[in-house]
Amino acid sequence: MSVSVDNLSVAYRSRRGDVTAVENVSFTLADGEIMGLAGESGCGKSTLGNALIYLDPRMKQTGGKVMVDGKELPISDTKAMRPRRMTEVSLVPQYAMSALTPTRKISRLTTDLLKSHKVRDRHEVLTEMNRRIALIGLKEDVLSKYSFELSGGMRQRVTILLSTLLNPSLLIADEVTSALDVSTQRAVGEMLLEFRDRGFVKSVIAITHDLSILAQIADSIAVMYAGRLAEKASTDTIVNEPLHPYTQALIASLPEVGVRHDQTTLTGIPGRPPSLANPPAGCRFRDRCPFAFDKCTDTPPFEEVKPGHRVACWKVSGEVQAK
Ligand SMILES: Nc1ncnc2c1ncn2[C@@H]1O[C@H](COP(=O)(O)OP(=O)(O)O)[C@@H](O)[C@H]1O
Ligand code: SF4
Ligand SMILES: [Mg+2]
Repeated sequence: MSVSVDNLSVAYRSRRGDVTAVENVSFTLADGEIMGLAGESGCGKSTLGNALIYLDPRMKQTGGKVMVDGKELPISDTKAMRPRRMTEVSLVPQYAMSALTPTRKISRLTTDLLKSHKVRDRHEVLTEMNRRIALIGLKEDVLSKYSFELSGGMRQRVTILLSTLLNPSLLIADEVTSALDVSTQRAVGEMLLEFRDRGFVKSVIAITHDLSILAQIADSIAVMYAGRLAEKASTDTIVNEPLHPYTQALIASLPEVGVRHDQTTLTGIPGRPPSLANPPAGCRFRDRCPFAFDKCTDTPPFEEVKPGHRVACWKVSGEVQAK
């Protein structure tokens, strides 16, 4: 098992107190698994992804632990994390493609990156980079370009290329297909699959608010709601037999295949996720859930209801017990 996240909680420090944006999140990722992390905007997806790489000073780990390849990842220790980044865990942050420094050529950005990670044999890595550039159908002259000379899709592929140059065990790709047209989304998705298949990355967490791209590339999908995981199962199960009422609503709101999907809120059910600064007690989906009942004022545990299928919902666990 390459990645295991156990009861992880992460909070932002704010003047009015801590805002817990990730609460008791647990999941595992097998070698080679591409896990999609889905959910509406503001539910904690980026916080979870960022926490596995870099806790900025506003953030703090308030519980839990993360293991990668059998070793604990010291996510709260910036210094200890430095040598683990890019080699064990790597992140393409949300909005990364607009963050590439415009005044440096891609070749210079690459050597800067390798220097900052104290890579000795840069020549070997650059040769491999050229091979990968060809593999994903970019021209070699991409290296002599400035990022502003590249299209959005090319920039996104370059950021993924750079993040995976040192063959990390885990890549976290945060909204890498958002803001791209459908055919470019597919090319970026295929690049993730190709890199996984060739072993350039062992496992991937693909974060997106858009479930339709995950249906194409992910082996499994975890659905997050208001800082907690609501459901995790194989992609086929999530798409065809979702059990959590929130997942069911997300799936029901998917557009038909091929239709562009820009929505960040659900059309099927009214309301919005609760504020994480002051979340309600019990199941956080309660005020939007058509099935809510008295027990839902307690927090439902994230339980395995079938092998490989975990759900946090009292209705679902009651039905499983009744069988
Ligand atoms: N700097 C911050 N200070 C306090 N709370 C924050 C900060 N950044 C994000 N949050 C809280 O964390 C929640 C999750 O944000 P984020 O992880 O970006 O969600 P997502 O990626 O799912 O859209 C937000 O709804 C907000 O309440
Ligand atoms: S625990 Fe209750 S409120 Fe929450 S999703 Fe299940 S039925 Fe709905
Ligand atoms: Mg985000």
